[in-house]
Amino acid sequence: MKIYLASDHGGYALKQKIEAALEADYSVADLGCTSTDSCDYPIFGKAIGEAVVDDSDSLGIAICGSGIGISMAANKVPGCRAALCYSVEAAKLARQHNGANVLCLGERTQSLDDHLDIVMAFLGTEIDDSERHQRRRGLLDEMQ
Ligand code: RB5
Repeated sequence: MKIYLASDHGGYALKQKIEAALEADYSVADLGCTSTDSCDYPIFGKAIGEAVVDDSDSLGIAICGSGIGISMAANKVPGCRAALCYSVEAAKLARQHNGANVLCLGERTQSLDDHLDIVMAFLGTEIDDSERHQRRRGLLDEMQ
């Protein structure tokens, strides 16, 4: 499975650390940004949403300072289900119930260890295909 990463400047440092943690076990593609110079999170939210929707065997991790702006941007892309997760439990539920394909993180909100636990929970959890969850995800798709 391919993992796409993207961030603005507020998530750049965490993106680099997550890339280092994942590259031994996953094929990782970094969509930017490339430094801590100020940049605009909607550009990178759009990029990761489009990349994950175009590549069905992939997941994304998108990071900004809070995780809020980049999640809003990614969710504008039809087919992208971006979930901002501040806990391991939320990351598991985002995959199981909501079928999230992009995990959003806020660099300023957690320790590195907590972020890495959230990432591993997200990547290690499968989508729950029970009828009620499929129905609800289908209703989400109809809204796009
Ligand atoms: C950048 O300062 C900050 O606003 C951005 O990273 C993010 O938190 C926006 O939601």
